[in-house]
Amino acid sequence: KVVAVIMVGGPTKGTRFRPLSFNTPKPLFPLAGQPMVHHPISACKRIPNLAQIFLIGFYEEREFALYVSSISNELKLPVRYLKEDKPHGSAGGLYYFKDMIMEDSPSHIFLLNCDVCCSFPLPDMLEAHKRYDGMGTVLVIKVSAESAHQFGELVADPVTGELLHYTEKPETFVSDLINCGVYVFTPDIFTAIQGVFAHREDRANIQRVSSFELQSMTRALPVDFVRLDQDILSPLAGKKQLYTYETMDFWEQIKTPGISLKCSALYLAQFKITSPHLLASGNGNKSATIIGDVYIHPSAKVHPTAKIGPNVSISANVRIGAGVRLISCIILDDVEIKENAVVINSIIGWKSSLGKWSRVQGNGDYNAKLGITILGEAVNVEDEIVVINSIVLPNKILNVSVQEEIIL
Ligand code: GDD
Repeated sequence: KVVAVIMVGGPTKGTRFRPLSFNTPKPLFPLAGQPMVHHPISACKRIPNLAQIFLIGFYEEREFALYVSSISNELKLPVRYLKEDKPHGSAGGLYYFKDMIMEDSPSHIFLLNCDVCCSFPLPDMLEAHKRYDGMGTVLVIKVSAESAHQFGELVADPVTGELLHYTEKPETFVSDLINCGVYVFTPDIFTAIQGVFAHREDRANIQRVSSFELQSMTRALPVDFVRLDQDILSPLAGKKQLYTYETMDFWEQIKTPGISLKCSALYLAQFKITSPHLLASGNGNKSATIIGDVYIHPSAKVHPTAKIGPNVSISANVRIGAGVRLISCIILDDVEIKENAVVINSIIGWKSSLGKWSRVQGNGDYNAKLGITILGEAVNVEDEIVVINSIVLPNKILNVSVQEEIIL
């Protein structure tokens, strides 16, 4: 049997995702019309002999209750949310729920970060992992040398695939091969994590320092806080225990709202192959002009003269008026867009309203601070107002046009 664990973090993480993470946990923010965490979960469904999926985080249980029960029914597979009382780190969180994860005596454990967007080639990784016969296999990808420092950089043996060297977010360039945050392990991973605890205790005893002093030695981390990257991957590299599997598909890390718009496009494109019925062009939606990849929630009301796409996701209960034009945007639940409004390269927050002939636009630079215009929850843009390259916090009324501004 195989189990999958998805690390979802908690409210103190994902702060760069504001203002979209004020009221919705980042893992539930919709990409291509589905909660972020839904994409790795549906990829897990393709793993042979998968027994259970666990989401581990320190959000309140009730935040995930509805999603977890509906997805369990839909996939006919138990998906459970396990709440940590406090953050234990990416490996410490896994260890904290060891007994539950090992309940079905799985031979393999997948571990996935929830904030990555990729094709999750999990069955292929598992095959490679079995061939390597190590403790763990890490999904890796080549990125540009300029962007590599934001991730775990690593060196792998080109012939055997062994992970030879690993440095987390190094200051000086090591390699353009990086850690994708997707792993498969044997249950020996728990022994390795236990080894980190034991090593820390030994050090504390030898140096006769209190756990408080030990905390300051290890940069003020609690003693039971174990990071998968620094505390496990770095020390075990080059010991014939860890291997790499390189993906040639797309991969993005989802830390900012801007990037989520790019990821929405990537997932919509993937739907063409995996779930064409979810695309507006594929489900017989004849009511509006649809261009390229578009998702429209069945409860949304779209006027037949609206023109929508490419890369548009429209969530539940949205109302789109006559003559509206939408290009590259995410429209969240309960938004109203009135006649002849235009939305380009933007994310429109829950319950917001855009007036007639209004225009909300970004320049489309996903990495720039203001490249994608973001309206927080319940923002009201009045008729004929223009909002360009701006971020607007929740509950604002815009009755003057703005450009390159953060409206607090
Ligand atoms: N449950 C729980 N508890 N989850 C956590 C905790 C914790 O204490 N800490 C982090 N996570 C989750 C985050 O929500 C995220 O999904 C994942 O674990 C990794 O988060 P971080 O440890 O903050 O690392 P990162 O995202 O900056 O970088 C990691 O992922 C990159 C790929 O996206 C590193 O492993 C990098 O090397 C890697 O390139």
